[in-house]
Amino acid sequence: MKDITLLAIESSCDETAAAVVKNGREVLSNVIYSQIALHTEYGGVVPEIASRKHVEKINQVIEQALADAGVTLTDLDGIAVTYGPGLVGALLVGVSEAKAISFATGLPLIGVHHIEGHICANYIENKELEPPFVCLVASGGHSHLVVVKDYGEYEIIGRTRDDAAGEAFDKVARAIGLGYPGGPKIDKLSKEGNPDAIAFPRAKVDENEYDFSFSGLKSAVLNYLNGCQMKGEEVNRADVAASFQKAVIDVLVEHSIHAVKEYHFDKFAIAGGVASNSSLRKAFEERCAAEGIRFYHPSPIFCTDNAAMIGAAGYYEFVKGVRSGYDLNAVPGLKLGER
Ligand code: KG4
Ligand code: ZN
Repeated sequence: MKDITLLAIESSCDETAAAVVKNGREVLSNVIYSQIALHTEYGGVVPEIASRKHVEKINQVIEQALADAGVTLTDLDGIAVTYGPGLVGALLVGVSEAKAISFATGLPLIGVHHIEGHICANYIENKELEPPFVCLVASGGHSHLVVVKDYGEYEIIGRTRDDAAGEAFDKVARAIGLGYPGGPKIDKLSKEGNPDAIAFPRAKVDENEYDFSFSGLKSAVLNYLNGCQMKGEEVNRADVAASFQKAVIDVLVEHSIHAVKEYHFDKFAIAGGVASNSSLRKAFEERCAAEGIRFYHPSPIFCTDNAAMIGAAGYYEFVKGVRSGYDLNAVPGLKLGER
């Protein structure tokens, strides 16, 4: 079969990213301009600032991705772009750019679902991984347990009822004064703390055993901090971070392993920003080994937002014949499995 080389563009949140990906699994280049430093002083992503920075950076990031890959637009077979879910103004920058390049070159356009991209990040470094498998997607905006039935075919069996896992990391980090983004900072500080120091709750959702709820845990942390303040006790931030992190990981691991077993799969993958958490990876590694489940995960750089994952997902849509028209629009609330 002829090689398929795609230019992929991602701008759904605070990373302006472009990549060139061959046959869905070979990353020829992966350029990420992170806006994190810009948003840190506001304690979170400011949508308007994100959009403006995307406009400023997108051409440069794409040119760099093409140069790093040693290709020009004429070497490409198509353009894949994230069109949802995400911040509408941020998504629109990538979508408009992809449409413009497609219009100018005649290259086909493929609109890609951001979460599908996160899942497909697993294909990049695990060449043997093929569906079906169960994937836990834990990012700043989503916590989904997904049955990947086939390429491009997904069934969400569990989701968060309130805060996403990454959101909980970010909020707790802010409460203990670590700043944004909280995930990596809690990950690091936890290494100095005792994960069993404070008994934070492991929430269960009655109606669906695979659903998640993290807002109760977040409140428990805030209550604990308030309690310490009222009693004039000093807070051991490393212990709070480690105990909170352990509570999140315990729930993610229990729900995921339960799903893999109940659905009779022997493969399990993780994806999304939270999947780069070192303790979470270790916990899944140990548990999967004990249960005889093959465990897959992307390298941290492919866990947080990037365009290579969009090129991977775009490839499997492309070979199925999926093409988007020039009426492709940003869909901030796009559901997985929807087009
Ligand atoms: O996938 P992602 O880059 O963007 C979304 O699609 O949301 O995920 C970002 C989220 C943030 O909430 C961030 O705090 C979290 O992933 N995150 C982490 C780690 N690195 C990023 N959470 C825990 N541990 C980490 N090492
Ligand atoms: Zn993401």
